[in-house]
Amino acid sequence: MKAARVTVSDRASAGIYEDKGGPEIERVFRDCWKEDCTMVSRVIPDERENISRTLCILADEERCHLILTTGGTGPALRDVTPEATMDVVDKEMPGFGEAQRMISFATVPTAILSRATAGVRGRTLIINLPGNPKAIAECLPPLVPAIREALRHLAE
Ligand code: MTE
Repeated sequence: MKAARVTVSDRASAGIYEDKGGPEIERVFRDCWKEDCTMVSRVIPDERENISRTLCILADEERCHLILTTGGTGPALRDVTPEATMDVVDKEMPGFGEAQRMISFATVPTAILSRATAGVRGRTLIINLPGNPKAIAECLPPLVPAIREALRHLAE
């Protein structure tokens, strides 16, 4: 199993602040996944073409089974992660974003500001997660059973 975590943030990629989302994805995912998993990481700015190019390289050349992005899913002008994701997927998998909003909206009213989506490119599942590390810890574990099942289907 090979996975990638992609932090989409102008400030983290410029070194203005530390990337907290990417390491949190890795911590939470490894904790839930249990089996062996190689995880590569990228930290890139909020630029649509750069994001989609990075996703394509990780899927097509690095052959990652799963790509988890963090950040850039909100309503701000620079937030374009869902658009960049939709630019490169063959199929949208809207349930992953819907589930995240459902999980968090029960306790965090601003969760509906997330436009996170997901999709499949070839045999790679790509899922957007929010930028806030606390939100990652809340949203990612409930998605893991569906991630496992999707990867099984994609391996067929
Ligand atoms: N989900 C949880 N669980 N906790 C949060 O604090 N923040 C929301 C939402 N989802 C939040 C959350 C806010 S304020 C925004 S703008 C969106 O996630 C998108 O965040 P992003 O642009 O960092 O991806």
